[in-house]
Amino acid sequence: MNRLRTQVAIVGAGPAGLLLSHLLHRQGVDSIVLERRSREYVERRVRAGLLEHSTVELLRACGLAGRLDREGLRHDGFELRVNGHRHRVDTTALTGHRTYVYGQQELVKDMIRARLEAGGQVRFGIEDVSLDLAGDGPSTVRCTLDGRPAEIACDFVAGCDGFHGVSRRTIPPGLLTSYERRYPSAWLGILAAAPPTSRELVYAVHERGFALASMRTPEISRLYLQVEPGESLDAWPDDRIWKELRARLAVDGEAALTEGPVLERSLVELRSYVAEPMQHGPLFLAGDAAHIVPPTAAKGLNLAVEDVKVLSEAFHAWYATGDRAPLDGYSEARLPAIWEAEDFSDWMAHLLHRLPGDDTYGSRLQRARLDAVVNSPTAARQLAERYVGTSRQNSGGRARSRVTAAPG
Ligand code: APR
Ligand code: PHB
Repeated sequence: MNRLRTQVAIVGAGPAGLLLSHLLHRQGVDSIVLERRSREYVERRVRAGLLEHSTVELLRACGLAGRLDREGLRHDGFELRVNGHRHRVDTTALTGHRTYVYGQQELVKDMIRARLEAGGQVRFGIEDVSLDLAGDGPSTVRCTLDGRPAEIACDFVAGCDGFHGVSRRTIPPGLLTSYERRYPSAWLGILAAAPPTSRELVYAVHERGFALASMRTPEISRLYLQVEPGESLDAWPDDRIWKELRARLAVDGEAALTEGPVLERSLVELRSYVAEPMQHGPLFLAGDAAHIVPPTAAKGLNLAVEDVKVLSEAFHAWYATGDRAPLDGYSEARLPAIWEAEDFSDWMAHLLHRLPGDDTYGSRLQRARLDAVVNSPTAARQLAERYVGTSRQNSGGRARSRVTAAPG
């Protein structure tokens, strides 16, 4: 039996687990990260790539933004294209803050390199993690390490293992409430070796369905199409994808798209999910393990970063002064900002998509919302603040007034 000891055992080496390990290291707190997949797999996994200003600030402050500052693309706005008519939302003018496009897997590569260079323990290919949470005293994480059964004694466990991970399932069902919404829609995403035709992101609302033209570098486009849920990638050969993108992104009937070889393709179902509370005894959930948003506003990564910032500060308070109040208050501190992002992502989903089953009333509501964003400076400013994340920064931390008699 392999017996190890650490202060915080971290399950999952996505952005949440890796960043938490990095921040803890800077505070002198020891951790071990256990990841089910291989390093190559997590470094190649393509996910959304839009970073809020505050996410970038945090990465800069902790020394993880070197390559991001060199290679990331700075954005001051985006285009809303409605049936071929273009409308620009100048998010920087409206909020004073920029957003950044930088692929999530690039950030994951930077984080893994930083952890390993600092001598951090990130163990890949660990497929059999199980948690034995203690009421008092050390908890135990069991798994196979280097071909031998291992027991890792730890003070705390950070569940950063995504929506399908093992950590959340360790919480007794009666102690956890799940809030969930599934949308009758999915996104088909491709990476293509084609320069983006627009310098800014284009969100295209079209009667054939939604499309998004994003990018990763000046040579690589990232493009999404709204498709039916349960669709198979086999039903979408490259020709069909490009034909649909051309139609939905056309400007005044003219194609507005550069095409190129498809490098990667994936499907993601649109879903919202929140687990409350985000903690149980010595276990703390962060990132997708605790909440999912539909990808419409690319908030998932930004929320995960905020979670682990708050969590690392709470661990610091415990180890530096013995104060457990910030750890005890972790879930309560995070949930208002998470629900603000859930609300905005849901609102964006309804703004941008005509959902199967929507009646004519639903489509007129969509039109009214689009009209407001295009014509009302107040509506545009609110959209911009929520898009760049400044509205959420006001949702956590300080004392908040509560809406009494809120249902549920
Ligand atoms: N044991 C160990 N690792 C696990 C287990 C398990 N049982 N189950 C899942 N994992 C790993 C996954 O392989 C993955 O690498 O946990 C990691 C979770 O990482 P992400 O899914 O990337 O989640 P998170 O770190 O919370 O990042 C937030 O933002 O853009 C969104 O969904 C997107 O990944 C994104 C997220
Ligand atoms: C992306 O580039 O992957 C992306 C950008 C913006 C979004 C969603 C995804 O709203």
